Amino acid sequence: MVSAQYPRFRPVLDRFAPYKPGQMPPSGPDGRSFKLSSNESPFGPLPSVAKVIAEAAASINRYPDDASSALIEAIAARWAVPPSHVTVGCGAVGLTQQLLETVGEPGAEVMYAWRSFECYPTLSDLAGVTSVRVPLHDATHDLAAMADAITGRTRLVFVCNPNNPTGTVVHRRELEEFLDRVPSDCLVVLDEAYGEYVRDPGVPRGIGLYPDRPNLAVLRSFSKAYGLAGLRVGYLIAHEPVAATVRKTKLPFTVNALAQAAAIASLEAEAELMERVDQVVGERERVRTELIAQGWAPPPTQANFVWLATGEDTPDFTATCERAGVAVRPYATDGVRVSVGDWEANDAFLAVAGAYPRRH
Ligand SMILES: Cc1ncc(COP(=O)(O)O)c(C=O)c1O
Repeated sequence: MVSAQYPRFRPVLDRFAPYKPGQMPPSGPDGRSFKLSSNESPFGPLPSVAKVIAEAAASINRYPDDASSALIEAIAARWAVPPSHVTVGCGAVGLTQQLLETVGEPGAEVMYAWRSFECYPTLSDLAGVTSVRVPLHDATHDLAAMADAITGRTRLVFVCNPNNPTGTVVHRRELEEFLDRVPSDCLVVLDEAYGEYVRDPGVPRGIGLYPDRPNLAVLRSFSKAYGLAGLRVGYLIAHEPVAATVRKTKLPFTVNALAQAAAIASLEAEAELMERVDQVVGERERVRTELIAQGWAPPPTQANFVWLATGEDTPDFTATCERAGVAVRPYATDGVRVSVGDWEANDAFLAVAGAYPRRH
């Protein structure tokens, strides 16, 4: 028998762990199951948005508008910025990949806090750039340490605010001090995928910071607060040369026709969607307060999830949740991230947490 010969691929792919999406929960003992593993909106689409999607489906034999012009106009109007400052992508994660491609050349370094969004390391590897991870301090970005770690090779820094998976935030003064220390030829990406859930007035919005900072780009998503995770659309706001450069790295037709239509409709229905976000924020406060009353120590969160540093108990705690029909997101032996769902799902999770024999 001839031994099989396969093509030679990039060695980096041998150590490339594929992205692990949040698990679907098995049914719990009473047949109920709750997915609290992907930070999704617990609400289904608004009827007005579902209608627009159905209408757009009638034309999917045609390619979408490659420039996403109407969507870019709508986002620009929403934030009162020039359309040339806006670029859209296949989710914020698609834009993350595009951003890395804008700097991805041998020797380039990309910096981010760790733990943070799991796609930063894998997409950095894929882009051929070297990751520099700066440990979180108290589950929060250590921006002073990050600024200290910048070298002439640092081409891009991600600041995830609120941070996934810990939910913690950086505040205006520390962020501005950090931005002041970043060399002007190094791009800073403020990842605000969870920005709509922030209620802490000390947290600045990237949209207010970027006009004075040509090396700052703000990343946002329609997946979370706008409830369009299944359609894949996100956007980036930055000065024109930055936005235009990122646009060059996009795949043709990367934002599909249904996504474009749904995102525009969602901006039109923003007030209604933000009422839902308020409900999630209310539930977030209830969940965290109850966890603390149970003896847990979740860090303060401004996102639609809570973090429990369950350490070595992480696999066991995750399995315990699963047996009760609740899927949470485990991170090795660091901890679990639990999305805030609807009242019933949150209660189901709180019941498991309350009955668990140990606290973290
Ligand atoms: C911090 C962060 N950035 C970006 C994304 C990507 O969002 P999208 O669904 O728009 O690709 C996520 C999704 O989980 C995230 O947590």
